[in-house]
Amino acid sequence: MEIYIQPMIARTVCVLGATGFVGHHLVPELARHGYQVRVVTRRYERARGLLTVPGIEVIEGDINDEARLRECFAGCYAVINLVAVLHERRMGDFQRLHVDLPARIARICEQQQVSRLLHISALHAGRTASHYLDSKGRGEVQLRQGVQHTRLTIFRPSVIFGPGDHFFTRFATLLRLAPGIFPVVCAQARLAPVYVGDITTAMIAVLDQPTAPGGTYELCGPRSYTLQELVALTARTTGVRRYLPGLGMGSSRLVAAILGHLPGRLFTYDNYRSLQIDNVCSRHIGELFQISPHSVEGVIAGYLD
Ligand SMILES: NC(=O)c1ccc[n+]([C@@H]2O[C@H](COP(=O)([O-])OP(=O)(O)OC[C@H]3O[C@@H](n4cnc5c(N)ncnc54)[C@H](OP(=O)(O)O)[C@@H]3O)[C@@H](O)[C@H]2O)c1
Repeated sequence: MEIYIQPMIARTVCVLGATGFVGHHLVPELARHGYQVRVVTRRYERARGLLTVPGIEVIEGDINDEARLRECFAGCYAVINLVAVLHERRMGDFQRLHVDLPARIARICEQQQVSRLLHISALHAGRTASHYLDSKGRGEVQLRQGVQHTRLTIFRPSVIFGPGDHFFTRFATLLRLAPGIFPVVCAQARLAPVYVGDITTAMIAVLDQPTAPGGTYELCGPRSYTLQELVALTARTTGVRRYLPGLGMGSSRLVAAILGHLPGRLFTYDNYRSLQIDNVCSRHIGELFQISPHSVEGVIAGYLD
């Protein structure tokens, strides 16, 4: 007797902001799980690192152009939004990217009958002390108000780590450049770094259940650390010996005021404000998604070299 297997029609997922750190991990995983991935980017060459992913479609487009986004979302099962900035390059970036864009995405998802919308926000989104967190919170409100039939899932991660991250990789570089001493700003601020691979697993678990309800998930790793502990761990892992004095809040504010006005904007006053609230959750990602979460110690040595 012959067995006929019903051919699976690959579901298309459109990803915005896919050329960044999280996107470079998420897109190959989506393809590996059988999704057809459509990447929308400002510049085609930014997606160069993703072009080897099987079945990927890269569309160059302006995410502010509603008609263009409508074309991009056509026929999609899901849309994933990863677009964000930590610092404003141009005045109004937070409003445009964190608030107006989510409102537009929600509207078009409804028009195009997209089943699922996944959005990465930030832990403590909505806290008004920081413009970044405030704008992330206002973006969440736009999304919740904008969707009706599209199932919305919002992820609020603490700091994310993994190859190509913006945290350990940057500290490793700065530590190497530092001349013997590296003062740590907001040294006692607490963070619970979460592995990017665990986040992509959680996102795909949500995507794989077309009828599961949406929701909001705070995503933290299995352990919390002070910022000073994380910098010290980076130094140990990379074999860099530096004196790492911790700065109190007053000195950190002063450093933010200076660095925030220098090119590169390594640390801004808004970052300082975000770090006034501990970046930790009551439950870690493994408890929410039944996975065994990766620890910082188990992963960073593999890529900080
Ligand atoms: N990394 C973390 O530790 C962390 C922690 C908490 C939350 N998150 C959130 O997770 C999401 C992904 O983070 P990520 O680290 O992957 O971000 P990322 O590396 O900075 O990438 C973000 C993407 O946003 C797009 N983008 C940036 N500026 C833009 C602009 N002015 N106009 C239009 N598009 C712009 C870019 O895509 P194109 O150039 O292709 O258009 C870029 O690839 C973000 O929402 C972020 O807030 C990240």
